[in-house]
Amino acid sequence: MLRLNISASIDYNAAVMSSDTAHPQKLNSQMLPWPVDWAALLGAARPLILEIGFGHGDFLLHLARQHPDASIIGLEISNRCLTLVEDRLQRHNLHHVRVIHTPAETALHHLFEPGTLDEAHINFPDPWFKTRHEHRRLMQRDTLDALVSRLKPEGRLYLATDIHDYAVMAADLLAATPGLDNRLDTPWANTMDGRVVTKYERKARQEGRACYYFAYQRNHQPAPPVPVIQELPMPHVVFETPLSLEAMRAAFQPIEYAYGDTHINISFIYLGERALLFDIYVKEPTIDQRVALTLVARERPDEYTLQLSMIGHPRPTTGIHAATNLLADWLIGLHPDTKVLKRKTQVIKTE
Ligand SMILES: C[S@@+](CC[C@H](N)C(=O)[O-])C[C@H]1O[C@@H](n2cnc3c(N)ncnc32)[C@H](O)[C@@H]1O
Repeated sequence: MLRLNISASIDYNAAVMSSDTAHPQKLNSQMLPWPVDWAALLGAARPLILEIGFGHGDFLLHLARQHPDASIIGLEISNRCLTLVEDRLQRHNLHHVRVIHTPAETALHHLFEPGTLDEAHINFPDPWFKTRHEHRRLMQRDTLDALVSRLKPEGRLYLATDIHDYAVMAADLLAATPGLDNRLDTPWANTMDGRVVTKYERKARQEGRACYYFAYQRNHQPAPPVPVIQELPMPHVVFETPLSLEAMRAAFQPIEYAYGDTHINISFIYLGERALLFDIYVKEPTIDQRVALTLVARERPDEYTLQLSMIGHPRPTTGIHAATNLLADWLIGLHPDTKVLKRKTQVIKTE
């Protein structure tokens, strides 16, 4: 099954490493199709193994050597780690591994279909214990539900941490997850055979801290309801107004709006020769996007099109449609003689 969408600009052939010298196309969740056809990306249908937050990549390389017949996917938010590990993979000719620049939360919701992962590993996740940072913590209900839904029946989930409070919190969360069974007789173990020692693990052991290892397995309980996120068509609005671009720019005030868990900020405006460009930040529960909407003067006098600019590889999510509606409504409301000629946006319930 191959579900490509127009806005996703991945060339699967270019992305597959075909020779020792070929460099793979850099991958991130904003540019990959949603969901990804992993068999096309890696050149063959194989078991899928995931590592979240691979850091310097010791464990990822170990997984790659342990599983030459699987496809290994690594997720990282640090570009430095990504570049470092891409180089390591090249040097070691590990062509069945791909690393992706993405928050794990976005990848789990957007890039993977339900019931497709054979294994997932999380090694020494950042704890984010402060209340204001809590939303960044990997082990939390929404992210774990997404992970459980993406695991195959009998798929494995492994977690390691060197922070006792994190281990206690994770043990409670995992024990309260009906879709997972503990493979150990205890909530965690303090050693686990066959593991390669990661950078953080080495540091913890050198500093005399205990490590806590978890091993869970997906059972046959129904997966939590985590949707596969589909994109909407590209939004655009055409209208006629007696106002000039300069007059619209002069009237602009930053717009902030929130509905549910979605936050929209329209903070800056730029005036070009025949266009206005609006700087848009949309934070949705599974993805943050910083994109631009442009208001372009059409051939006919007084007519304008509001549309997504290609800056920042925008993905037309519901939040992006809501931002387009918000901005269009503001522009239309600027003058009583404004007439809407075409509106191709999804109406999003924002009350
Ligand atoms: C404490 S380090 C552990 C690195 C490595 N796993 C190890 O054991 O040495 C946590 C890693 O997770 C990455 N990370 C943090 N939040 C992430 C997220 N939401 N998605 C993907 N990676 C994340 C960080 O960039 C960092 O490399």
